[in-house]
Amino acid sequence: MDKNWIRSTCRDLELYYNPDVGSKLRMDTSTNALGANPAGMKALRECVTLDVGQYPSTYGNELRRSLADLYHLKDDNFVVGNGSDEALDIIMKTFMEPGETVITAHPAYVLHSFFVKINGGRTQTVDLKDDFQLDVDKINSTKGKLVLICTPNNPTANTFKMDDVKALIEGCDRPVVVDEAYGEYTGKSFLPLVEKYDNLIVTRTFSKAYGLAGMRIGYMAAGLEMASAMQKVKIPYSLNMIGERVAMAALKDRAFLERSVKVVNEERPFLQKGLDDLGFQTFPSEANFLMFRPTIPSDQLTRELSKKGVLIRDFGRIRKLENCARTTIGTREMNSTLLAKMKEVMAECH
Ligand SMILES: Cc1ncc(COP(=O)(O)O)c(C=O)c1O
Repeated sequence: MDKNWIRSTCRDLELYYNPDVGSKLRMDTSTNALGANPAGMKALRECVTLDVGQYPSTYGNELRRSLADLYHLKDDNFVVGNGSDEALDIIMKTFMEPGETVITAHPAYVLHSFFVKINGGRTQTVDLKDDFQLDVDKINSTKGKLVLICTPNNPTANTFKMDDVKALIEGCDRPVVVDEAYGEYTGKSFLPLVEKYDNLIVTRTFSKAYGLAGMRIGYMAAGLEMASAMQKVKIPYSLNMIGERVAMAALKDRAFLERSVKVVNEERPFLQKGLDDLGFQTFPSEANFLMFRPTIPSDQLTRELSKKGVLIRDFGRIRKLENCARTTIGTREMNSTLLAKMKEVMAECH
């Protein structure tokens, strides 16, 4: 194959994180510690009667209706799709010309720059400050077609100050995307403001607090004009009919959502103390994961834990996250297992 057959912007890509999972305990992807959404599972079992010989709703109309009810917005404020990753992809396809610049924070979600790159754009990162807060002045004075941030920020786990995010939205006349994949854990959201700000897009997911990562369901909200532009770009039918049903059932089960958030808030201090007791540095978290810096190389810790059946995610080679790793905040049982295995690793390498 001639390398030039591949589009120039896609030539030097690497495969995404793809661990050997087997039966290992997954604390590497910040999914819901309580497991799959029970109401979603019930709806999934009932899906055997669906006529999958037909296409799903082109734009996921029923789920958009449910979301509109929940947020007191209009159906047409919402675009739903195959995970919030699809939403991010749609945003790039809709607003960014090839060669244009998208401003992201550093460090942030690894796939933000991926979606820019595969769509032919370039990412201009603006470093977070030492406390991992936004450098508002720097972002607002940086030229770029749109701004993309996530709060709570992955992998640092902190949220950005609401006033700072507001200053980005109000500071420049360009789209500002607020990725709230972990928004349910904070109780704070910019989503209700999409009608107030015609340059605001908020993305959200069913993969985290709703416990449905395997179903691949995400959504975004924006003012009617931007939402309409994005709806036309989205691949029709990208949310399958089973995903739509399951998401609607999960949306109604507010008790599971509340339990999911509660367990994280209860377990965070336990896990944090366990990591502190090991001598590791921990960073403040408002999400369902913790970033920490172990006293041994983070890649070694990650590798050794994997051998012992626990997956965490290493970020140690990323600038500003030198020797850091991230773990999901699990149930007490999961956190105890993780800490016990960490103790074993530490004992074995001394
Ligand atoms: C910040 C952030 N945004 C988006 C996503 C993608 O989520 P989804 O499963 O909805 O595609 C993730 C997943 O880890 C994430 O951490």
